Amino acid sequence: MSKKLFIETLGCAMNVRDSEHMVAELHALEGYELTDEAGEADLILINTCSVREKPVHKLFSELGVFNRLKKPDAKIGVCGCTASHLGKEIIKRAPYVNFVLGARNVSKIAQVLHKDKAVEIEIDYDESQFAFKDFRTSAYKAYINISIGCDKQCTFCIVPKTRGDEISIPADLIVAEARRAVDNGAKEVFLLGQNVNNYGRRFSGEHEKVNFTELLRRVSALEGLQRIRFTSPHPLHMDDEFIEEFARNPKICKSMHMPLQSGSSDILKAMKRGYTKEWFLNRAAKLREMVPNVSISTDIIVAFPGESDEDFIHTMEVLNTVRFEQVFSFKYSPRPLTEAQNLEEVDSQIGSERLRLLQERHDEILDELKCEHIGKVVEVYFEELRHDGYVAGRSDNNLGVKVKGSEELLGTIANVKITEVHRTVAHGEIVA
Ligand code: 5AD
Ligand code: SF4
Repeated sequence: MSKKLFIETLGCAMNVRDSEHMVAELHALEGYELTDEAGEADLILINTCSVREKPVHKLFSELGVFNRLKKPDAKIGVCGCTASHLGKEIIKRAPYVNFVLGARNVSKIAQVLHKDKAVEIEIDYDESQFAFKDFRTSAYKAYINISIGCDKQCTFCIVPKTRGDEISIPADLIVAEARRAVDNGAKEVFLLGQNVNNYGRRFSGEHEKVNFTELLRRVSALEGLQRIRFTSPHPLHMDDEFIEEFARNPKICKSMHMPLQSGSSDILKAMKRGYTKEWFLNRAAKLREMVPNVSISTDIIVAFPGESDEDFIHTMEVLNTVRFEQVFSFKYSPRPLTEAQNLEEVDSQIGSERLRLLQERHDEILDELKCEHIGKVVEVYFEELRHDGYVAGRSDNNLGVKVKGSEELLGTIANVKITEVHRTVAHGEIVA
């Protein structure tokens, strides 16, 4: 009987792809098959996130739960960003953990499996050209890494310390991977990196210098590929050439993630984001002007150390001007190894109140935007069969849409007229 692997993935899309890579390696080299029951697994992996404090706390209580319900001989491995950050401390606090594998050491999964108490968290380990085995969670959409690590030094962010310096993956490898995914039936590729539009600054070894805009052109030239998405771009690197390619290239889905973090130029400076409120507004305006149906999502942190009421008002102004289609908002959480960790914090209640105000205003904006969708026709790629007789997918500008239908719709792209809009999903009917 084959061995069973249970894997829990927290955090971002990079982690999702890292998990796919580990599943693929473990299947090909060790014969593991996936299970969604931790209690029947021979190996339990948690792929962790360390970007905020809460999930890190949760890790140890979760590990305790897994330890209680696992089969007697089953192994437990902790992978990802918290593994990079805490390293052997994890085994000290939870001695039943069998190995710790950092976010930049994913390719070593089949090795650490056989080294009890192994801690592999080398921050400058270069996996940028490692030939991972193939595995995809979705048959319809292929996640593809275009770089590893992050070269930015945002003062709130732990990621450069968990994922190391940024190295781009050679363009020919990316195009070949996209080709294979399309040959296997994917109509959409999702290009991933901490900072995608900084692509091409550094490769390991001699490689053709290709920037992100050129990479988009090359990937989009693939026959059979219909959609390209990417995350996350950085507002600082949104030059005209990039926005124009985004607007002009019909295969690029018209949804852009623009992580604002703060609307105050002073706070942006303290965060070392490299742009001002004006630059951000200018880029968002150019996008809205060139791509009328674009949907813009963002990340916002409130109560960064030193944030005054006035700074927060600047953030609310950007919210009201750009009218983001989606906002991921967080209260600042001091992280170890970051420049901002020792700065004096904003009063916690003030922080919570700002978060509430921001979310409340965003919800109002969403309600206003809702009405604009009704009656519009959008192109939807169907990816998920629901139990209630519906099939769901995303419009090219990232609206979650469901229609009545069955399996035959999966993997197809159709025009859908929107009939109803709720907070997280719209309903529609297929039109010719
Ligand atoms: N506190 C709160 N939010 C954070 N993020 C990153 N670091 C922190 C932190 N220390 C948020 C940012 C980032 C998203 C992935 O998480 O908004 O874009
Ligand atoms: Fe979390 Fe950031 Fe690591 Fe992704 S890269 S898992 S968001 S800490």
